[in-house]
Amino acid sequence: MLILKPNLTIVKPYQNFAEIAARRIAEIISAAGKRPCLVSLSGGTTPFPVYRSLAKLLAANGAGNRCHWIQTDERFVHAQDERSNQRGIKQSLMIDGFLPQHSFLPVITDTPPAAQTPADFEQLCQSYYERLQALPENLRPPAPIDLIILGIGTDGHTASLFPDTDWVSRTSLTGFAIFKTASQPEARFSLTLERIMQAREIIFLVNGASKSQVLQKIFFDPAFNSPAAYIARNRSSTWVLDEEAAGNEIISLIKMP
Ligand code: 6PG
Repeated sequence: MLILKPNLTIVKPYQNFAEIAARRIAEIISAAGKRPCLVSLSGGTTPFPVYRSLAKLLAANGAGNRCHWIQTDERFVHAQDERSNQRGIKQSLMIDGFLPQHSFLPVITDTPPAAQTPADFEQLCQSYYERLQALPENLRPPAPIDLIILGIGTDGHTASLFPDTDWVSRTSLTGFAIFKTASQPEARFSLTLERIMQAREIIFLVNGASKSQVLQKIFFDPAFNSPAAYIARNRSSTWVLDEEAAGNEIISLIKMP
């Protein structure tokens, strides 16, 4: 197996993926102790039901009031656009009022910049970096993010690091960068690889049969290279997979003595 020190949880068909994943995330947050905790949230579709369960868990165990939430990545769309990740986060993690609204810092405050020049993009990254300086002192960048929640696309992308971009070499003093890829209809804002690798904890949330092939390649095919594969093979991480995504080979890793 190629991935480094995986902490694997496999969700069975009769179990609730969102609740099990939320519990694993809450355990990681609790393990950080009673201090403020910074969590970076991915988008897509998988994580939103998890976020809704997570908010309820954190309200019940009292950890919610010391959590601060930022975005791992965002699509260059209006904040109300159905493709907006912050819209998804507001309609899941924040919807039930279990967590303080001000604890979530979205990347795009209303509409993305009209012009989309490199200077505009750098300004957005700088602006988000500066807004994060309002976080509790020990959470302000460049301090390591306590927990980054990641998904994986069928092409092996994670966050908005896409295989056909300069995801390896792109660095930024802010820890954020803008990527454009032919596979996506809009430009993407993302944590850089360097910033993700610095996180104290990383959890991958992956479910559905469509992800089985890419997970097989990440776990067992050394010839397969992608942003998710790089992260999985170069630092420890926690994984919550359903059986459809995991497949028999990965499931068998759990049963190894
Ligand atoms: C995004 C995400 C992205 C996502 C993967 C997997 O903005 O789309 O941040 O990296 O995690 O595309 O998405 P699903 O888990 O919803 O399939």
